[in-house]
Amino acid sequence: MNIQQAMQDAINEQINAELESAYIYLSMSAHFEAENLPGFARWMRLQSQEEVGHAMRLFDYVCERGGRVTLKALAEPTTQFGAPVTLFEQALAHEQKITRLIDELYQAAAQHSDTPTQVMLQWFVTEQVEEENNVGLVVEQLRRAGDSSAALLFLDRQLGTRAGD
Ligand SMILES: [Fe+2]
Ligand SMILES: [Fe+2]
Repeated sequence: MNIQQAMQDAINEQINAELESAYIYLSMSAHFEAENLPGFARWMRLQSQEEVGHAMRLFDYVCERGGRVTLKALAEPTTQFGAPVTLFEQALAHEQKITRLIDELYQAAAQHSDTPTQVMLQWFVTEQVEEENNVGLVVEQLRRAGDSSAALLFLDRQLGTRAGD
């Protein structure tokens, strides 16, 4: 059965939100490159690529259900960031917002009795738990690092070891 119009529209909105996430994280990566923190920059670049992957997962799903993907404009991401800890707090707040959107999308699928979409979204529900946990851990480590540049450089090295997919 082809996807219902309302669910197609809602998933298209989420595709936009995932691509916007990718754009925000890429802007954060550019900031870290400029700040000569290559490990943080790499981490954010990979995070950005993951978000494109999320968008494409939804893209493929809409197509498989006989729907039509429509892409919308992306908001210009900010280029003004504070200390690394503030930036990662912003990233965490952003992930929490995305979690709420996924939750709303799941509720909408339930209201429309769209079982395949609910099953598809379960992957995203699990992923958001992981995302919040990963970003939250970096926030905690940066808080603990405080004003120590030695600790900051250590974390930069550590985050730079993040493996690509
Ligand atoms: Fe995502
Ligand atoms: Fe994410």
